[in-house]
Amino acid sequence: MCPSTMSGCKTRPSSKPLRLNHSLSTKNTRCSFLGFRIPSTFIVLDKKLVVGEFIHGEPHTEAMVGDVNIFMNDLDDPQMAEVEIMIAEQKSRGKGLAKESILLMMAFAIESFGIHLFRAKIGESNEASLNLFQKLGFKETSRSEIFKEVTVELPITESKSEELHQLIRNTVTHS
Ligand SMILES: CC(C)(COP(=O)(O)OP(=O)(O)OC[C@H]1O[C@@H](n2cnc3c(N)ncnc32)[C@H](O)[C@@H]1OP(=O)(O)O)[C@@H](O)C(=O)NCCC(=O)NCCS
Repeated sequence: MCPSTMSGCKTRPSSKPLRLNHSLSTKNTRCSFLGFRIPSTFIVLDKKLVVGEFIHGEPHTEAMVGDVNIFMNDLDDPQMAEVEIMIAEQKSRGKGLAKESILLMMAFAIESFGIHLFRAKIGESNEASLNLFQKLGFKETSRSEIFKEVTVELPITESKSEELHQLIRNTVTHS
């Protein structure tokens, strides 16, 4: 994954992506009409699909394969972030991109927004996603029979934060 592009206050990739440096300056921005912090989106690039030389800050649309989002949408807990991930390009799946993308997003969210709890809602038959979040340390906290959905959570304690950074050092392969 290359966290070189990101868009703010959108639930899908921006057509005019901002560089991460710019995005960091948007931290703690709030949508005034809702009183919520804005959602954050990273576009996932598969470097193997980059045509020519990889250049930081270039959108490299030819290599866009998915996105990872967080939503701080709990009125009672503004430091809770819901995570969503999509690796849309089939040929880019199974290469560790989702795991790496979520780890980077979590590190960004902890540092930028002081997030202390991550949550994901996953279809109960979505084995790939359930395995993915389980591998990252998320535990099931509830299950909806109506929506056929499992909620998994990862609280961020000090030791978990250190463990996460260790995992990032061991997992992240792209610079
Ligand atoms: C789920 C999804 C994000 C996984 O992306 P990915 O880049 O292929 O995942 P990774 O290569 O990073 O795999 C990480 C772990 O996820 C699990 N996993 C991934 N694909 C899997 C599959 N097809 N079957 C079972 N487990 C799978 C494994 O535990 C894997 O770890 P391992 O390789 O050490 O065994 C991708 O399949 C996807 O976008 N699916 C559709 C959207 C979706 O379900 N999003 C989640 C809702 S939040």
